[in-house]
Formats: sequence, C-alpha cells, structure tokens
Amino acid sequence: MLAKPLKKEKQIKILLTEEEIKESIKLLAKRIHEDYTKKEITEIYLLFVLKGSFIFAADLIRELSKLNLKMKIDAIKISSYEGTKSGKINICLSELLINNLDNKNILIIDDILDTGKTLHTLKWNIKRYYKPKSLEFCCLLKKEQKINDVYLNVNYIGFVIPNRFIVGYGLDYNGLYRELPYIAIYPGE
Ligand code: IMP
Ligand code: MG
Repeated sequence: MLAKPLKKEKQIKILLTEEEIKESIKLLAKRIHEDYTKKEITEIYLLFVLKGSFIFAADLIRELSKLNLKMKIDAIKISSYEGTKSGKINICLSELLINNLDNKNILIIDDILDTGKTLHTLKWNIKRYYKPKSLEFCCLLKKEQKINDVYLNVNYIGFVIPNRFIVGYGLDYNGLYRELPYIAIYPGE
C-alpha cells in the first residue's frame, strides 16, 4: 500500500533538509575514518539497526567507502515503538548469534537515540555473548533529553534535536513516511 500523503491541513515542519543531512553524514564519515585510522584500525564491523537506520546506514557506508575504510556490514532488527510511544524492546537475537563478534571493532549505526533502551539492550547482548575489541555507536540524531549518552559511549552524533516525534529519512510512524528525503516533525502530534 502506498504511504498516505501528509495531511495538507497540518503544515509539515521540516526539521532537517536533505542537504543538511548529507553534509552531516560526510562529516561523520570523516571523523569516524580519522578516529579509527589514529587507532590503526583498518577494518570495522558495521552493524546497523533495522528498520529505521537503513537509509542513514546506506549513505554513511557509501561515504566511508570513499575513505578507504574496510568494512564488514551486517544488520540486526530491533523494535520498540508503536505509533509515537516507546515500548518493550524486541531484539532478534538469532541474527546476533550468526557471526562471531569476538575481537571485532564494532560500530553500531542507528537512526536516533531517544531513551537509549534500544542501544543499551544491543550493547548488553553483544557483551553477553562476545568480547569485541572495541564497541562504538553512531546515531544520526539524538533527542535532547533524559539519557546519559556517555554511559552508552555514543561518540558519533549528527544532530541534537528537540524532544518531538519525527519522521522521514528512514524514520517512520507505523511504517509510514520512511521514504521522505528530509526529517520532519510528525504532523499528527
Ligand atoms: P530508544 O530505544 O528510546 O533510544 O529509541 C530508539 C529507537 O526508537 C530508534 O531506533 C527509532 O527507531 C525509534 N524512535 C525513537 N524516536 C523516534 C521518533 O521520533 N520517530 C521515529 N522513530 C523513533
Ligand atoms: Mg530504530
């Protein structure tokens, strides 16, 4: 089924344009490349979180590939949201257990850091089953609120945004609006 167009009567408010997102991703890729090069790490294990980060991950991966960083790429499905409400975390553990992550330099990619529950659950499970050489996180967005990201060690963040429900660039409301090339405040709120 086609995505329902955003309702005309509720003005859609663009928070981040396509150009701003592109620019930020270039800078993130540059920083990631510089940091790993400094640590003499030439290959990383890039694990992106489905579904929300698929567009961000694809764009970031293509920027990183221009910088000669060797990558193994994998994905894991984790969900928590129903509509605009954060709920119970569902993690697909069988996906995590397919490949051995011991001694890997893991970089987790996610779309947005909100309460931190998703990435905390992922970190907890990785540490439960493996001994990675390093574990870093990269999120395009972080909501300015609650969570202490030092605790999660989220080194790479593209933008800090207001605490609103947003859609676009992979982020959805019940599966809708992921295809928008920009990031907008969900007009239904
Ligand atoms: P956390 O576990 O609360 O940090 O939430 C992270 C996950 O919830 C993200 O990976 C997103 O998929 C989803 N999420 C959080 N905030 C939003 C939002 O404003 N719009 C759409 N999805 C969101
Ligand atoms: Mg997500």
